[in-house]
Amino acid sequence: MRYGHFDDEQREYVIARPDTPLPWINYLGCEAYIGIISNTAGGYSFYRDARLRRITRYRYNNVPFDCGGRYVYIRDDASGAFWSPSWQPTRHAAEDYVCRHGLGYTVIGSAQAGIHAETCYFVPLGENLEIWQLTLTNRRSERAELSIFSCVEFCLWDALDDASNFQRNFSVGEVEIVDDVIYHKSEYRERRNHFAYFACSEPLAGYDTQREAFLGAYGGWEAPQVVARGASGNSHAHGWAPIGSHHVRLALEPGEQREVRFLLGYHENAREHKFDPPGSQTIDKRTVRPVISRYLQKANADAAFAELRAYWDRLLGVYQVDTPDEHVNRMVGIWNPYQNMATFNVSRSASFFESGIGRGLGFRDSNQDLLGFVHMVPSRARERLLDLAATQLETGGAYHQYQPLTKRGNDAVGGGFNDDPLWLVLAVAAYLKETGDWSILSEPVAYENKAGSEEPLYDHLRRSVQYTLDRLGPHGLPLIGRADWNDCLNLNCFSDEPGESFQTTENREGGVAESVFIAGLFVLAANEMAELSARAARHLPGLAVDEPEGYRSAAHEMAETTLAHGWDGAWFLRAYDHFGDKVGSQSCEEGQIYIEPQGFCVMAGMGLEDGRAEQALAAVQERLATPHGIMLQQPAYSRYYLHLGEISSYPPGYKENAGIFCHNNPWITIAETMLGHGEQALETYLRINPSAREAISELHRCEPYVYAQMIAGRDAPTFGEAKNSWLTGTAAWNYVAISQWILGIRPTYDGLHIAPVIPAAWDGYRATRVWRGVTYRIAVQREGPGNAISLRVDGVPIEGDVVPPRPDGVEQVRVVATLH
Ligand code: BGC
Ligand code: NOJ
Repeated sequence: MRYGHFDDEQREYVIARPDTPLPWINYLGCEAYIGIISNTAGGYSFYRDARLRRITRYRYNNVPFDCGGRYVYIRDDASGAFWSPSWQPTRHAAEDYVCRHGLGYTVIGSAQAGIHAETCYFVPLGENLEIWQLTLTNRRSERAELSIFSCVEFCLWDALDDASNFQRNFSVGEVEIVDDVIYHKSEYRERRNHFAYFACSEPLAGYDTQREAFLGAYGGWEAPQVVARGASGNSHAHGWAPIGSHHVRLALEPGEQREVRFLLGYHENAREHKFDPPGSQTIDKRTVRPVISRYLQKANADAAFAELRAYWDRLLGVYQVDTPDEHVNRMVGIWNPYQNMATFNVSRSASFFESGIGRGLGFRDSNQDLLGFVHMVPSRARERLLDLAATQLETGGAYHQYQPLTKRGNDAVGGGFNDDPLWLVLAVAAYLKETGDWSILSEPVAYENKAGSEEPLYDHLRRSVQYTLDRLGPHGLPLIGRADWNDCLNLNCFSDEPGESFQTTENREGGVAESVFIAGLFVLAANEMAELSARAARHLPGLAVDEPEGYRSAAHEMAETTLAHGWDGAWFLRAYDHFGDKVGSQSCEEGQIYIEPQGFCVMAGMGLEDGRAEQALAAVQERLATPHGIMLQQPAYSRYYLHLGEISSYPPGYKENAGIFCHNNPWITIAETMLGHGEQALETYLRINPSAREAISELHRCEPYVYAQMIAGRDAPTFGEAKNSWLTGTAAWNYVAISQWILGIRPTYDGLHIAPVIPAAWDGYRATRVWRGVTYRIAVQREGPGNAISLRVDGVPIEGDVVPPRPDGVEQVRVVATLH
């Protein structure tokens, strides 16, 4: 069953009913000002950091779901009836309800009693504000006298403190109402130089800024007393819960259409220009007023919207495909890169499933997210790489997370996740291949943000690799530390204390638990270092660069060690635990085979020659694959194992305990392409492709336009149900898998590699790829059933499968690739 449909022409998902199985959300804003918005207008906004600079409140896990948002109420002043065109929070029987989630904007509308209302929400590029453009149409045959009420609830900035420190917070709320603009300025009197504002394009009949005055004692959002009675209280918040609500009265003739615009924004003043007049407690509005008046004007708001659409046309234009499969076309061309933008921006911090108070940007997460983003806005990827590297420790290790506002590592979590630093190597390599900007390697970057500790980025990479080599266990495999990619495989934790963090507790120090997954990651990263070093010396003669040979032999040695001690007979082992016993082995009672090492060791090239890669992937298909995707491990852990940690804390089939953890499915997809298995690769890809799962939305339950972190595995009673949509490394990795490995268009140092591994039944496909300023128009055509390829570039046959970079001045290159 579907709850809507894809409109590929408009690049929208169109939701046809408000009661989707879960709130289906979208992101507004893709720079500093960001918000989430559900299909019933629930959600919140923040500036840069969902935890430290929250602008509006949202009630997580509320009953009903999805409470608090960007609400508009319409009241028929003749009858007194009122409703919300976004369905929530009044939940009236909406006619013609529709929500169109587009790229950076959402439109929600419905009709009631002959009044149609539709709001378009978006964030103009380069601005720290959101526009709500409300369009009202009177479909009645008589004149309608209406009252419009807007409402947002302000957050007192630090979202965690806001939700917990009531003894203080109920006393600090402050607002100003000047020229019909509501300013939220809690704590502005002291150390904050920022405030929020909420403005309306129409003259006001009234306003409210104190929540209780708006809702009434014991009142809820579904029936605010102000809306019910049709008159604002003109309340002024002193403490308690500051809100912003405007009241506009409108009379619409039959057939008449009117627009009302609301602006919700964030603004900073220079410290020395906080108050006007100086010495007063009144916000200096000289720099904010022009912004407000600019976007209250229709022409400017419309132009900003058009600019946003053009921006996404440009970003998506970097890689477009036309294949025989609509799910591939839609995800590659629209939704997957769009999701990559969201994961790049907010990592795992703010979504319907992430409260925005738990984590900032994850080190391993952000490095992986960048893989799916770098081709769109390389300059932002560059900045992110330097920020990440600056949270690296001198040991080569890394803070596991950092706050985007402060760019400082999170002390509460610390480091010790032994895979972390290696991801930086993969991300920097991807950046270099995309851009050819070698200068990034000589950028001075501090360790732990400590001034004076700067070294060229290249040295950070060197330390990343060395970090693993300095931490090898009894079998010569990398020590796992607190955890590797799988945060829940905590082999040194041994926690029997309820509530203790599995990730940050290490109850048995000096552990010798080893990770075969890190071994695979290391081989890949060390080989990248070799390739990168070989060229860096040429591009950056002033930089001290290592001999590539050292990295190559370290990679080789680790691969040998893995094949000697990390092979279980028919697949790769997962780990050795604290006692030196095997994890992910046929000798285990449960958890005999794990997906991660099968994917990564094959991706790193292990077992390609001696048949072990084929064996490992066959074992994955046989033991882990299901119609809903590939499970993380099998058999699921049926009880809690002290020596394994969080993984066994989950009921079987959920999350890391044998759930279909979508993030590592694409590693198998890539591995399958490396073995030339076109059918199997596409099949693996399509099983978790959200568009391909749209028809089973009532089972899948999450949005059909973005990947979810997890789909419940075969052991779960809810097998096939997705959770934790949007913020997952699945997005970037699936994008890499389909665009670079199945469709096979990969930027390399030496040119654009064209190596499709597609099903025999596909007669080919067409693609456009903009790379380093040149547009490649690629036509792949099948002449035989295999993956062997011959290329013609601008009509001329070339050797091999890499299209060499073009000389300057060339804008377009035509590539015809023939598969034999
Ligand atoms: C989740 C993991 C996550 C970890 C750290 C665990 O509860 O299962 O997926 O990586 O928390 O946030
Ligand atoms: C989600 C975390 O954000 C990510 O860092 C981790 O790799 C996976 N869960 C697997 O545990």
